[in-house]
Amino acid sequence: MNGDQKAQRSGRRKFLNILIGGGLLGWIGSVVYPILSYLNPPEIPEANVNSIKAGLTSDFPPNQGKILKFGKKPVILIQMDPGEFRAFAATCTHLDCIVQYRQDTKQIWCACHNGIYDTNGRNVSGPPPRPLGEYKVNIINNEIIIINPES
Ligand code: FES
Repeated sequence: MNGDQKAQRSGRRKFLNILIGGGLLGWIGSVVYPILSYLNPPEIPEANVNSIKAGLTSDFPPNQGKILKFGKKPVILIQMDPGEFRAFAATCTHLDCIVQYRQDTKQIWCACHNGIYDTNGRNVSGPPPRPLGEYKVNIINNEIIIINPES
């Protein structure tokens, strides 16, 4: 092997080392970057919702409850007698399960630990320690509007 061949071989070896090293760095970056992005997600500002439209009164039969999304929070809308709407936070005050309206007992019920609230949102039985937070309900042109009382 003469000097020219040695230099050529050394050049190829350097080129291959750079190629392999670059590929390895690229692979590490493609694995590490998604992991770091997952562990440190970008901040997404939460939308501030003050009211929602729940639909038309005609679409909502009496003695019925419906869970709606109020921003990121669930709200339960119930209609006791025709035209008498009430809305409460649908998150149980015990351990945050979602409550539901029971037509047979006319109560708000949490299935997780059999917690019971009356139709005023008061905790009447079971483990819930506090009443459900109440929302305002307005009817405007037959449309049900639920309003956050804190807004
Ligand atoms: S979470 Fe509702 S009663 Fe326990």
